[in-house]
Amino acid sequence: MYMFLFGTMPYVLVAIAVVGVFWRFNYNRFSWSSQSSEFLENKVLFFGSFPWHYGIILILLGHIIGLIIPGGLLWWNSVPVRLYILELTGLSLGFLAFFGLLALIYRRLTNVRVKALTNSWDVIILIILLIQVITGLGNSIFFRWGSNWYAASAVPWMWSLFSFNPDTTYVASLPLNTKVHIFNALIFIAFIPFSRLAHFVTINPIKYLSRPYQVVRWYRRGGSTTNVVQYK
Ligand code: HEM
Repeated sequence: MYMFLFGTMPYVLVAIAVVGVFWRFNYNRFSWSSQSSEFLENKVLFFGSFPWHYGIILILLGHIIGLIIPGGLLWWNSVPVRLYILELTGLSLGFLAFFGLLALIYRRLTNVRVKALTNSWDVIILIILLIQVITGLGNSIFFRWGSNWYAASAVPWMWSLFSFNPDTTYVASLPLNTKVHIFNALIFIAFIPFSRLAHFVTINPIKYLSRPYQVVRWYRRGGSTTNVVQYK
């Protein structure tokens, strides 16, 4: 069972993502966007999008640094005060992302115009992200110290996958909450090319944080520009 979920499925789900990226690039290239709804509603979006993106990008960066240099992470954590600083920073960023995500979900559910543009993919993606953030916070709050056992158990499992020799005993010893966190991350990766998360592949969020005013042009049938709106 563990071998199937954490030894086989990671390859299957990542393969779906890779094939999906090529498929979307070839057949649906101009749909490659977050399909911004900024011109429909801007205020709640601001309070959701900024904390969400700053929080989640920095947390993912932390995951990646731990993946690349687990020894460095364990070395940093060997002094208690440094461990507390790291964990507290991670937890604060986790809550930042969580509240940002809640604001984005609230906006999608309550703003009539945004709701009208929300499809079932968007709902599924928001649920996946919510599960990811809640279980991530669960890892941090209930199973201390996450950054230590991340380096000692989760990272060796990921490296065993990269060397095509999956060792699922590492995952088997992790709490159920973490198993859900890990498997949900794989589902998240598989969904990227098929949803508005595709913008993630283009590193757009980074530009988004510092980009200038957005000019939105509405084109109607017949080719004439009927309205030009400038926001932010
Ligand atoms: C889509 C990918 C992922 C996202 C968006 C994500 C998100 C998060 C978030 C929001 C937190 C809470 C941050 C905190 O409170 O410190 C977290 C914590 C954590 N995640 Fe992930 N995660 C992802 C993938 C993974 C994977 C693949 C693993 C393991 C193989 C993992 C293991 C952990 C651990 C161990 C913690 C606790 C860290 C700590 O307490 O310092 N995550 N994650």
